[in-house]
Amino acid sequence: MDDEVRTPNEAVPTPADPTPADRRQTDRRQTDRSRADRRRAEPTRAARDGARADGVDRRTLLRAASAAGALAAPVPAAPLVTAGRAAAEEVSGPAPGAVSGGSSGPVPGIVKPLPAEWFVPHGTNAETRWDTFRGADGGAAIGRHVPVERFFVRNHTSTPLIDPDTWSLRLFGSGLRGAPTAGRPVEFGLDDLRELPSTRISVLIECAGNGRSYYSGQQGQPVPGTPWTLGGVGSASWRGVRLAEVLRAAGLTGAAVDVLPTGLDPDFVAGGTNYGPVRRPLPIAKALDDVLLAYEMNGEPLTPDHGAPARLVVPGWVGIASIKWVGSVEVADHPLYSPWNTDFYRMFGPDYPPGGGDPLTVQVVKSAFELAAGARLAADREHRLHGRSWSGVAAVRRVEVSTDGGRTWRRAELRDEPRADGWTRWSFDWRPGRPGPYELRARATDRRGNTQPERALFNREGYLFGAVVAHPVTVV
Ligand code: MTE
Repeated sequence: MDDEVRTPNEAVPTPADPTPADRRQTDRRQTDRSRADRRRAEPTRAARDGARADGVDRRTLLRAASAAGALAAPVPAAPLVTAGRAAAEEVSGPAPGAVSGGSSGPVPGIVKPLPAEWFVPHGTNAETRWDTFRGADGGAAIGRHVPVERFFVRNHTSTPLIDPDTWSLRLFGSGLRGAPTAGRPVEFGLDDLRELPSTRISVLIECAGNGRSYYSGQQGQPVPGTPWTLGGVGSASWRGVRLAEVLRAAGLTGAAVDVLPTGLDPDFVAGGTNYGPVRRPLPIAKALDDVLLAYEMNGEPLTPDHGAPARLVVPGWVGIASIKWVGSVEVADHPLYSPWNTDFYRMFGPDYPPGGGDPLTVQVVKSAFELAAGARLAADREHRLHGRSWSGVAAVRRVEVSTDGGRTWRRAELRDEPRADGWTRWSFDWRPGRPGPYELRARATDRRGNTQPERALFNREGYLFGAVVAHPVTVV
């Protein structure tokens, strides 16, 4: 986090000092009541056991909405195929607080354009194509940070369009001074948050299911869910206020154990079960450590698809921890649960405890070539291959490449000073001789000694595929 920027602390609102957001409280109470009225799936007792890891301005938004036809056409209720254990998913209407949502582009519910040369659509999601990291001339098209318009999108349902002028973050629960209730929360509007000291950090966000397609494609182990190749990842510069700062301003007490950020996107409905809004608890230690409540991405206000007006950014952890469109944060003096730390985002399978492994936290080591699968390369010519490697726990310190299906390996040249808060770019010079099919492989090791294995340990949902990926190319 060496590019961190802090701005001076101006007026810090406290629960005792009514904020401008107080004026919005009456509406919010109404909202809370209607939310509570909805039928929700609560985690089963079995699922709870062991389920805890210790461990734009308004005009721009409205323009985006009308460009997508979203204001005229609310979120469709048609079934969609998406990630998760259920084969089909239905999407309910927009959440309270959202102006509207959805789009008519190649992926229902995503607002930004998704040109086929940049993205591969998967259900409600879109992954970034690794070949677009290079321009037609072979030069770098994407630097350390992925431009917002090319950043992958992972939506459980659809992007809500939220009016930043009426939005507020509501904090409540037994871990705050005076134990404010959901009906009478401590509130911060966007302007209030901007008055708190700001921080900018580089963070890589990666979906827990990134690489999932290789369980079946490479290991012969079919798993359900979004068949990501390796494009469910992106690095960006995020600016916002540390969650710790917001929690303290809201009256955090020493009794707090867990926080539960909840998104304002429509309820997640799968297999006939309404799981409620996307929400996942974080242990207080992580929340106070390095978590950011971000309102800017790459120097601009967050865009709708990436969480506007504010989202969490949780360094090193699986992408689901980085809740987008955050509307509320419960702070509790006891462990909290949601389907996202009981039913989803845990390891189930023969190599895991019968009730499932701990909720997923940190990401594994991965590598990708900035090259299309099946690329054609001229024989008897020197090619400079480029790629990136990353890890959720430490900087990547070594990358090796094999051009003969994993029999022999040579060191790649690192193009970045290895850093823990992003990927390490590398290159590898290769002069293929004989024409024919080849399999390239890249294998990274991080500073904690974690090296990508030959095979990933199977789990039923296909999470955390960290094995070396075979990248087919044809030499002509
Ligand atoms: N937050 C909400 N409210 N709803 C979601 O569907 N998806 C999560 C996370 N936050 C999600 C969410 C997942 S699984 C990932 S990988 C990241 O957002 C993706 O962030 P991005 O779409 O900005 O790339």
